Amino acid sequence: MRNQAEIITVVPIPGEVPIQERPQAPAVKRNIAKPKKKKMMFPADLTQALELLVPLEHLPELMAKGGEHLVFTFEEEKPGTGEKRHPNIVYKVNFAQTADALKEFIADAGHQPEEDRLRQAEQRLKQEVGTRRRNVQQLRSYFGKDAVPAEQTMVRRLPISFEAVRALKKPIVAPKKNLPPEFPMLVTVQRKMPEFDAKISLSGYYLEMNFRLDEDRDENKEYFRRQKQFYALCYLVFVEQRLPKDAEEWTGADLDRLIAQMYPELQGLMQKDDPALLDELADLVERMRRYSEETGNVLDLAAPGNVLLTEKDERWRPMMPDAILPNECTFDEARLYANYFKRLPPDKHLDYRTVIVLMNALNTVRVINALMLIALQRDPDKPAPDLKTIPFLHFEEFDNLDLDRWIKELAYHNVF
Ligand SMILES: Nc1ncnc2c1ncn2[C@@H]1O[C@H](COP(=O)(O)OP(=O)(O)O)[C@@H](O)[C@H]1O
Ligand SMILES: [Mg+2]
Repeated sequence: MRNQAEIITVVPIPGEVPIQERPQAPAVKRNIAKPKKKKMMFPADLTQALELLVPLEHLPELMAKGGEHLVFTFEEEKPGTGEKRHPNIVYKVNFAQTADALKEFIADAGHQPEEDRLRQAEQRLKQEVGTRRRNVQQLRSYFGKDAVPAEQTMVRRLPISFEAVRALKKPIVAPKKNLPPEFPMLVTVQRKMPEFDAKISLSGYYLEMNFRLDEDRDENKEYFRRQKQFYALCYLVFVEQRLPKDAEEWTGADLDRLIAQMYPELQGLMQKDDPALLDELADLVERMRRYSEETGNVLDLAAPGNVLLTEKDERWRPMMPDAILPNECTFDEARLYANYFKRLPPDKHLDYRTVIVLMNALNTVRVINALMLIALQRDPDKPAPDLKTIPFLHFEEFDNLDLDRWIKELAYHNVF
């Protein structure tokens, strides 16, 4: 998470921040020497907890950790041959969904025999397997088999320990005395992505996270005011597709600046002056829009590395190793919730799932629309185009949300 000082510097207040030129595209570098493979560093307690969990000779190597998955490789050598075992796959253990099943398992302790509770956890996770398989097939049909790595998701009982659960920082109620030695986990064996010369991540994040501070503290009031103004501006442009009233003189450069401030991760993409990259981006964004409208599934665009444009031998290609949201989340559901929210009596609150679904749907719409604008290559010096003429992803139900109340709901559920 970026710190507060950094966030403040990126909040534009119309009229207060001088308009900047679109950054000059740096010369495109070619034939760059391949960077040496860096050894990933993980928190010592996590590494140690995992090493203690299974005998070392069977321990896969921890390659990455995202917000949901521990990603392992099994590249140990076959004894005496120098050959690698399984060099083409990664083994992804979904610790987030496993933790949800574990919470339920612990909460039911004392009511039912352990084996029954383990089977219930297994059943719960198996439902997710069916949904995920369907979603992967759909994703592959829209984006191609090269972009969406082949995978097999299953439920497997694997060793578990109090230390590993604690190191993953998932708050589990009183796990120590109630943990079995093994627990069912959602595991995906996925084709390993090839090495690239370059990659650009096409993600946003939950802008709502910028409200993380305590609003009532005096020193935070101004920060909050600016964040709300910024949030409202991003919502207006990228969800409702309107420019602010005082924006007659907005140019393409103002829209670029807003995108760069909203999702700093997209700045690298915006600075590239590479027609082949923009062509690939335009094709990918059009597919994302069609996928969203036709299947109704909400892509997971809230974390780095879920959707990438990758370059190998001077060719750009999309790669989507983690674009599916867990606990299937659809735009139909989000629209239902948006309408429900508009009619919510003042003394009632949204439930947690509603907040999470809306937050994801809003982020995905903003990211796809920001990418759409980047792909269209508007002239930074010309007046900003009429946003209604751009083939944005638009859902009427998301217009006219009460943003102040929305922010209060986020605070109520403590999502910041
Ligand atoms: N198929 C894969 N091949 C190579 N690396 C991968 C693959 N899948 C994931 N990774 C690496 O692991 C990281 C986290 O994986 P991801 O699937 O995004 O997990 P999470 O759901 O936790 O975000 C990725 O950013 C990437 O670096
Ligand atoms: Mg991810």
